[in-house]
Amino acid sequence: MSRSDRPRMAGIRSTADPRWDTAAKNTQATSGVALPNNRRGYAGADHAWPSPECRGQAGWPAVQWGAGDSASRAAIRRRHPPARQAAVSHTSNCLSIGLVEFMAWYDLFSNFYDYTVELVYRRYRPGVVDALGLEAGQFVLDLACGTGPNQPHLVEAVQGCGHVFGVDFSDGMLKRARKNAEREGWSNVHLLQLDARDLTLANLEAACGEQVELSGVVVTLGLSVIPDWEAVFKTTFDLLAPGGRYVIFDVHAERWVPQTWLVEKVAQADPTRESFKALEQCCEDFSFAYLPGSPHVHGGRPFLASGCKPGGIEQ
Ligand SMILES: C[S@@+](CC[C@H](N)C(=O)[O-])C[C@H]1O[C@@H](n2cnc3c(N)ncnc32)[C@H](O)[C@@H]1O
Repeated sequence: MSRSDRPRMAGIRSTADPRWDTAAKNTQATSGVALPNNRRGYAGADHAWPSPECRGQAGWPAVQWGAGDSASRAAIRRRHPPARQAAVSHTSNCLSIGLVEFMAWYDLFSNFYDYTVELVYRRYRPGVVDALGLEAGQFVLDLACGTGPNQPHLVEAVQGCGHVFGVDFSDGMLKRARKNAEREGWSNVHLLQLDARDLTLANLEAACGEQVELSGVVVTLGLSVIPDWEAVFKTTFDLLAPGGRYVIFDVHAERWVPQTWLVEKVAQADPTRESFKALEQCCEDFSFAYLPGSPHVHGGRPFLASGCKPGGIEQ
């Protein structure tokens, strides 16, 4: 089955989110609408993508960032301080003990990640990768790639002549990713164990033996976890070639529910982070959409944010 034939996000509409139902109704007539970057919506989906909540689309209402107001977010933070803010001290270019312990947790987590977290997030991955708008032969970075659940979709997108880089700091998570890539025979998947803050183009070029022009960066469930996420975001955005696309898929907790605590504890994540705002500030063609999914499952609302690095050739 080819990428375009495959039904995307099938059955994704959530009855738990009345806004999504409204959104889906509003977009029935616009299915396949031209996206800001002229990419298609979800082929075969029962709704257009991004949702009408996407910013920057004519006639689509703007998202109120952090709706739920800053006072309630402050209350969330008071009750549930970000898991590692105190535990991890980050000094530049050196491994703090905290980060090592943090990675040890992810090494352990790798043993059951695919049987737990991945079951909840699998359905989003084809759409997330589609948002990168990749073409055959391009280079793409999967930041904080974990066990590699994005890899099949990325490999399919860049085809045999492109390259997929996966970067993660956890040995355990990367071992799983490597095993999958070997099993599938993907010689164009390069997995690097690195603190993402230290990633350079030279690392990627050394891994594939070619000059690298990065067309896409995708980070799924990563920026809410990576302790020094702002520095990592900047480092990896800088690696993108002009006109390249950066895609963030993550969970955003506007209000606290018991599952928010669970996500903080189990995934060591801070779902109150608003990484999409960092992306909005430095890119063109920014789009944002909350995706179907209940905070009672995800600890917050799943979202997709996407934007291009300025300086690309006008289409
Ligand atoms: C919740 S997992 C997400 C994995 C994968 N992207 C996914 O969608 O399932 C977060 C990942 O971030 C990685 N990570 C955290 N801090 C990192 C850092 N400083 N550098 C590289 N990877 C990091 C962890 O090892 C872990 O694999």
